[in-house]
Amino acid sequence: MVRGTTSEEITPLATYRRRQAIMGTAAIGGIGALVAACGGTSAQLPAGPTVGPSTTWPTPAPVPEDVLTPIDTIVTYNNFYEFSTDKERVAKVSEKFTTSPWTLSVGGLVEKPRTFSTEDLVAMFKPEERVFRLRCVEGWSMVIPWQGFPLSRILEAVEPKGDAKFVRFETVKRPAEMPGQRDGGPYNWPYVEGLRLDEARNPLATIATGLYGKALPPQSGAPVRLVAPWKYGFKSVKSIVKLDLVAEMPKSLWMAAAPDEYGFYANVNPDVPHPRWSQATERRLGELKRRPTLFLNGYADQVASLYEGMDLRRNF
Ligand code: MTE
Repeated sequence: MVRGTTSEEITPLATYRRRQAIMGTAAIGGIGALVAACGGTSAQLPAGPTVGPSTTWPTPAPVPEDVLTPIDTIVTYNNFYEFSTDKERVAKVSEKFTTSPWTLSVGGLVEKPRTFSTEDLVAMFKPEERVFRLRCVEGWSMVIPWQGFPLSRILEAVEPKGDAKFVRFETVKRPAEMPGQRDGGPYNWPYVEGLRLDEARNPLATIATGLYGKALPPQSGAPVRLVAPWKYGFKSVKSIVKLDLVAEMPKSLWMAAAPDEYGFYANVNPDVPHPRWSQATERRLGELKRRPTLFLNGYADQVASLYEGMDLRRNF
């Protein structure tokens, strides 16, 4: 079983911050800056065991201006078209989605294909907390404390072959439980996404199993999803059952549905407007004023080198 249980009530923001501070994570990056931004400093809090980010998974510390989006917002405003295109109905419609037992099959151009249960993933790759911004292509954003591990750990375990160039991700296809997959519409289910292999190996490419210290709820992509924080949110494919190493660039669900609007790379870029709206600014959920969108969602130091020599206006 992944950390926490889906049936437990999810921790409210204030309680979560207090608990994390008491655990000592506040002192070691992680959400420390966010706790400090909220008035308390780690120095004033009782000492506790320190659970810091692992040195084998280097990721940037959250910036002080980032305040965690409240859990209630994160789990009630969702894009998960398999359940509903109405963001505020996804949680209700997905309530009974079966997320256990669950397996993730990893194959294609690898030396050691393998099927992992969710329990295997948690036991082998030991999720840690990382706070990342999520920027949706629609122009809204959140700041989410995920539990997860680097996707590269799975790749190391299966040993990609030399001709593997991309990773293809597939969401479960289960029309009996997912009304959006029954209703027809323009989408070619299952939801498919992809990363270039070097993108997938970047430490920011995360497999998430939880948020706010609890197992992912169905609407957030239970039990395992991708989080690629420098890309528009649609790349962060939910409820993954299959991961294949392939030689050719995979065609994602969005590339098939609207090729003029959604490209393979989908890197957050304020200078490249969506054909129907600007991407220069975004609305952080909970804030009134729009804020400027950051190139690569603020993660340029970590990922810009992946795109050296590429024209990101053409490769959108
Ligand atoms: N994954 C699947 N399988 N189906 C979806 O509809 N929506 C994407 C992405 N992953 C989607 C998906 C989009 S458009 C966004 S913005 C994020 O999930 C939203 O994640 P959240 O609901 O956890 O905020």
